[in-house]
Amino acid sequence: MTAFDLTGRTALVTGASRGIGRAMAVAFARHGADVALNGRDTALLAEVQAEIEGLGRKAVVVAADVTDAEAVRGMVDGAISSLGHLDIVVNNAGGNSFSVPFLGARPQGWDKVMKLNLDSVVEVCRAVGPHLLERKSGSVINVASVAGLSAVPMMGHYGTAKAAVLALTRTLAAEWAWAGVRVNSLVPGWVATDLTEFARAEESIEKALISRVPMQRWATAEEISGPAVFLASDASSFVTGHSLIVDGGLTVT
Ligand SMILES: NC(=O)c1ccc[n+]([C@@H]2O[C@H](COP(=O)([O-])OP(=O)(O)OC[C@H]3O[C@@H](n4cnc5c(N)ncnc54)[C@H](OP(=O)(O)O)[C@@H]3O)[C@@H](O)[C@H]2O)c1
Repeated sequence: MTAFDLTGRTALVTGASRGIGRAMAVAFARHGADVALNGRDTALLAEVQAEIEGLGRKAVVVAADVTDAEAVRGMVDGAISSLGHLDIVVNNAGGNSFSVPFLGARPQGWDKVMKLNLDSVVEVCRAVGPHLLERKSGSVINVASVAGLSAVPMMGHYGTAKAAVLALTRTLAAEWAWAGVRVNSLVPGWVATDLTEFARAEESIEKALISRVPMQRWATAEEISGPAVFLASDASSFVTGHSLIVDGGLTVT
């Protein structure tokens, strides 16, 4: 057994039907955890559930729209009652579907991005916080973005939401440390998923993005899951309030 082992642990992963969330859920199971899978697409979630069961781990589907606070409470309750308790909570569901200069953004568009990327994290943390504090252990991983660290013109809405996630992470880390509950952010750079399909579809956009990455390529979703296992496991037992950047060097240049 290594410090990265998750045998006997339970995890809730939001946005686990595709992309980074799916890769993290499967990686947790490979390291021994049982997993509650959130998303809205129940057919895709059933596929991930079957993949995890094939690894000999338990997987339950807790479908919910994370922008609906009541649904989030039901999702957390469902995950706890199905798995017995929660050790690892990953706020991964998120994304952005439009690029627009700050002054061109409609208030509804701004609110939608805040709801998906920030309010969802707030609601999950509100719903699961008492459970983790009562158990006096847990690892919360909030998936942010390099867009929350440096300027990304035309995506101020998304970057602002992700920067707020980084701030919330640091505050909760300080507030919950007394109970042994760790709270960290995982900060991906450019990852090849459905979310970034638009960029791979247009050679000039892809070239502009990837030429700025020292490693000169996209990350795979699986390359984000190793750092997630580190933050979930005892390998990071003294790490809290950290922003773990996984970006192929993008933000050091
Ligand atoms: N890809 C990148 O380059 C990149 C870079 C930095 C940060 N990130 C962040 O990483 C996270 C995952 O991104 P990804 O690239 O894996 O995106 P993705 O491939 O588009 O997957 C997004 C996941 O979130 C779920 N989701 C979206 N809206 C939801 C809602 N309202 N309620 C519940 N689930 C919802 C989707 O499931 P359903 O469709 O089943 O609802 C899906 O499982 C996001 O927070 C994103 O901002 C991504």
